[in-house]
Amino acid sequence: MPHLAYVNGRFVPHDRAAVHIEDRGFQFADGVYEVVTILGGRTVDEDGHLDRLDRSLSELEISKPMERSALKLLMHELVRRNRLEEGILYIQVTRGVAPRDFRFPRGVHATLVMTTRRQNHSVVPAAETGVRVVTVPEIRWARRDIKSVGLLAQVLAKQAAAKVGAFEAWMVDDDGFVTEGASSNAWIVTKDGVLVTRQADHSILKGITGNAIAALAEEINLRIERRPFTPAEAYEAREAFLTSATTFCLPIVEIDGHSIANGHPGGIATQLRAGYLDYARKRQSAPFKWRY
Ligand code: PDD
Repeated sequence: MPHLAYVNGRFVPHDRAAVHIEDRGFQFADGVYEVVTILGGRTVDEDGHLDRLDRSLSELEISKPMERSALKLLMHELVRRNRLEEGILYIQVTRGVAPRDFRFPRGVHATLVMTTRRQNHSVVPAAETGVRVVTVPEIRWARRDIKSVGLLAQVLAKQAAAKVGAFEAWMVDDDGFVTEGASSNAWIVTKDGVLVTRQADHSILKGITGNAIAALAEEINLRIERRPFTPAEAYEAREAFLTSATTFCLPIVEIDGHSIANGHPGGIATQLRAGYLDYARKRQSAPFKWRY
């Protein structure tokens, strides 16, 4: 059974899956995407991701490739055909294929591509050790609430992190505040045990995982402040962690060379990670409501 991708109506072998060179995703990064966790062969927070996909599409006036019920069937079918138990499902939608012209083309159909990748979510060494983060200047566009496939700034940020052996880059805006990670949301825990993460406006992508983490934190009576914080505040934090569909909740043990939580995964991050795994495995029949 070959590893399959879904491309515009067909399941095709992954190594032969392709879109046309005039696809606007390729020409202009004129498209959006979603990344959905697969655990136990099932999607996690599927409707949250599809709500955000709809929102990204409508902000860019890209037509939906199909109705949600049909899209869900195809997502599940790809997971089933690839026999994916634990991993990630990528959904990409572009404005479609048209002769190169900056303006929106008329009468095109959106391109829909879905791929899967295996990833072990149950055994994650980085969760045991914690990860290192470095800060980099925020150089992205002003609509980071849209999950655009235009990811060059994130590519550069991740590479800068990789060069110094760090797992993630936190981007710092012109006012000196952390926006978010290159592919994750950024959180700190103050000395008083308050969770701090940036408010979801146009400056960051509102995370589906972060939404669930916030709900789990509230269940255990933790207070959350939604406001910007500086790297200096983060260096002094009791704990720090990052959230995303690919990493869940990962404790951070070092930021720009400053040791966090004495260099060990913090208790709150560890507890929230365990809570999230439980939620992702067992509570998907009643997932947390995702609101933008
Ligand atoms: N990234 N912020 C950015 C810039 C992101 O790219 C992501 C996710 C998040 C977290 O969102 P969520 O919790 O919904 O995954 C925040 C995905 C995993 C990626 O690009 O691979």
